[in-house]
Order: sequence, then C-alpha cells, then structure tokens
Amino acid sequence: MADARGRPGWLSWNSLTARLGALFALLSAALLAVVGLMLVHALEAELRSRDIAELTAKTAQLREALGDFESVPALRARQDDFFGAVYDRERQAIVVADRAGRALLVSRELMVPRELLTGFAGQPGRGPQAVDWTQNGDDWCAVLAWGTLGQRSIASAAATPVVLVVALNRSSTNLMLDQFYRQLILLLAGGGLVTSAIGFAVAWHGLRPLRQIDATASAITADRLAERLDLARAPAEVQRLGASFNAMLARLHESFRRLSEFSSDLAHELRTPLNNLLGQTHVALSRPRAPRDYQDVLESNAEELERLRKMTEDMLFLAKADEARTRLDWQTFQLRHEVDKVAEYFAVVAEDRAVRVEVTGAAPVHADRRLVQRALNNLFANAVRHAPPGTPVRVRIDPGDDGGVRLAIANAGPGIAPEHLPRVFDRFFRTDPSRPDSAESSGLGLAIVQSIMRMHGGLASAASEADGLTTFTLRFPAASAHPR
Ligand SMILES: Nc1ncnc2c1ncn2[C@@H]1O[C@H](COP(=O)(O)OP(=O)(O)OP(=O)(O)O)[C@@H](O)[C@H]1O
Ligand SMILES: [Mg+2]
Repeated sequence: MADARGRPGWLSWNSLTARLGALFALLSAALLAVVGLMLVHALEAELRSRDIAELTAKTAQLREALGDFESVPALRARQDDFFGAVYDRERQAIVVADRAGRALLVSRELMVPRELLTGFAGQPGRGPQAVDWTQNGDDWCAVLAWGTLGQRSIASAAATPVVLVVALNRSSTNLMLDQFYRQLILLLAGGGLVTSAIGFAVAWHGLRPLRQIDATASAITADRLAERLDLARAPAEVQRLGASFNAMLARLHESFRRLSEFSSDLAHELRTPLNNLLGQTHVALSRPRAPRDYQDVLESNAEELERLRKMTEDMLFLAKADEARTRLDWQTFQLRHEVDKVAEYFAVVAEDRAVRVEVTGAAPVHADRRLVQRALNNLFANAVRHAPPGTPVRVRIDPGDDGGVRLAIANAGPGIAPEHLPRVFDRFFRTDPSRPDSAESSGLGLAIVQSIMRMHGGLASAASEADGLTTFTLRFPAASAHPR
C-alpha cells in the first residue's frame, strides 16, 4: 500500500509496524513450536517407557509361571491358566516360541516378525529385549525374554528353554499422540495469529509519534513554521528524533523571520536614496536651469547612485555567501603583509582625522587573500571613522595556541552599548542611525566581515569596554580545521 505521494504506507511490507508485527508473530510461533515439540517428545518417551516397564513386569510374572508347566503339551492343555493372570485381551498378546523361533503357543493371532523372533532365539541366555513393529496398521511393542519350562518339576533334567514374547498394541496411544500433535499445530497457528495481532497493535501504538511527525511535517508551510511536535508522551527513541525535528523547525523559523526582516529592511534602506534621487530630479526639472545647475544635480545623483550600487553589490555578496556559492581561493600568506597594505590605503583618511595606525605581531594564515582584504577594509573603515582625533587605531596579530591566528583591531571612541553588541554583525544594523555620517553607511560592513570569517570556518566578535575602547577580533582556525 502506498499513499497519494507514492510513499510506502504504514501497513505496507516495508513499514516498521508490519515488520515488527511479523517478527513478533514469527518469534512467538517458533517459541511455541519448540516448546510444543519438546513436550510431545517428552510425553511420547514417558508413555513408551511406562509401557515397556509394564511389559517387563508381565514378562517376569510369566517366566515365573512357566516353571509350573513341565512340557509344551502341558502348557497347551492349561493355556488359559497360563495366560489368565496377566492377559489383557484388548491390547496384549503372548507368544511362546521354541529355540528355533517357531511359535508353540499363541494367545491371539499375532505375527511377530520372523527375523525378530529368530534373531532373539539365536542368542540363548540373552537378557530381555524391547522391540517395536507395525502389523496390519497396528503399532506393536514387545519384550522378548528367555524362559524355562518345567523348572520346578522333580525331573529338572527335562527343563526346556523357550522364548517368551509379551506384546502390547500401542495404536491407541499413538492415536492419542497424533491428536495431541494436531491440536498443537492448531494452537500454534491460532497463537501465531493472536501474537501477530498483539505485536502489530503494540508497534502501531508505539510508532504513533512517528505518524504525528509525518502529519506535522506534511502540514508545515511558510506561515505555520511556529508549529511544534508534542513529545510529552513519546517513547525515548522517538523523543530524540522529535526534538531534532523541533529544533530544525525552530532554526527554519528563525531563518525565515530574518529573511522577511531583511526584505523589509532592504525596502526601507532603498527608499531614502531613491526618494532623494527622485526629489532632486523633479526639482531640477520643475523649471529651465543653467547647465551648471544640471551638472550639480547629476553629480549629486551620481554619488547617490554610487552608494546604491555599493549596497546592491554588498547584498549580492552576502546572498552568495549564504548560499555558499563563493568559491574560496585558498592560499597561505602573511596576514601582516595584508594588514600593512590596507593600513597604507587608509593612511590618507587617517591623517585627515589625525588618527594613527599601529600594527604589531605577525602570523601566516591559510585563507582567501581577496576576501581577507575585504574584511580588513571594512574593519579599518569603521575604526578610522569612529576613533576620536589624536587617538591610535591598534592592530595586533597573534598566532593562537590551537594553531589558529587572531587579529584584533581596537580604537577609542564612543564605544558600543552592551545591548547593541550582539547585533552589530546583523545586516543594516547601525548603533546610531541619526549620526551625520550614517547616510554614507549601509550597515552591511560588519555583516560582510562575519560572513567572510564563517566561510573560512572562523569567527568575528566584538567587545566594547566602559571607557569606550572597542575591539573587533577575527579568529582564523588552524589549517587542519578548515571547511572543505
Ligand atoms: N570601531 C567601531 N567603533 C564604534 N562603533 C562601531 C565600530 N565599528 C562599527 N561600529 C558600529 O557598528 C555599526 C555597524 O557597523 P557596520 O560596519 O556594519 O556598518 P556601517 O559602518 O554603519 O556601514 P558600512 O560599513 O556598510 O559602510 C556601525 O553603524 C557603528 O555604529
Ligand atoms: Mg562599516
């Protein structure tokens, strides 16, 4: 059975429920069969040993009785006396045979197989022997023993050894055992059915949380990501799966929330520069103007457009990083070398703001040089912009104990409030959007730094002390820990 989406149904042969149910039934049927067979065998052996014991006792009695008859004719003449004491006409037969295995006296029509009789008769003095055979559909069992006629007569020289056969018809016993067998088979079939039903019910009940997961997962859509599985009564194994499933839902929900937040932030960020562009253009077009005025408007518009271009590029970079579509060009290089290059690039801006850059330490890193430069650029731009005039921007490079590399860039200044610290790496986040220079910033710089570090399997973090010293730290992992 398969459902509408072509997945195997809960009752199909590769469902866990059906397999557990079948396994349960198979195991219990096998167990019942083994126990039943052992019982039947034990019963069979016990019944046979009782029959043999009874026959052996009767044989002993008859051997004793033989002594009272001094010859075969005497025995024949008084055969009712001889048979009388022990003879059960329904089930038993007694044969007295001579040393050649020829029957001398027979209590009832009984064909003791010739080879059994002659075989025993050929071994004079041998102890009693139990034998079995089938005749005319009846199962027989007998004890063969040597006896002596006339042992107790005065002329004991006339003593004649004879073979005594005491046989028992075991057909009724075997019939009973056959019936027992049949009942056992019925019992096995019935028991198997019942246990498979029980096994199926137990599995069906135990796997209910899985069906719940299925139902919940099928019902999940973008606007129902807040739904969670109720695991209060689920078995331990399913609880773990359910907990992972719930955690996955939570992560999806969070990503989805950030994505929609990002879209609304994005619209918001685009609105201001687009309004500016439109406003300026409309004002310029409202009446004829001198070419110089048009030139001013176009220059201002070009600046605005340049910022929009940078913003869309940054967003494209972040989107590619999210989708892990950026291929890293791994190489090993001196981080100090790249820091010096970026510092040199910012030297003019820094000098304008009376800020000096101090770099200490050195270490090689294994990373994408272009991306590292981009991250350093963003960090330097922030530090130089926020450092008050006359203060230094300090960069330290440390090889870590774990084989990784740390780079810290610190500047004095207003600092970042503790409640803002966890958000500085978020897209479009600015601590103070009313700052005069915030129109030039998009709030994407640190988001790009973080995403570059993540691509390298590393991490960027921020710390800001009460006295206003703000430090951004980049942690590059050891080369052995790089993501493939
Ligand atoms: N070195 C720093 N000192 C103090 N505040 C900082 C520092 N670096 C970043 N910040 C704060 O973190 C916010 C986010 O920084 P981010 O670099 O992401 O954006 P931005 O610099 O405003 O814009 P962009 O880098 O895209 O031009 C900044 O607006 C600023 O308030
Ligand atoms: Mg910045």
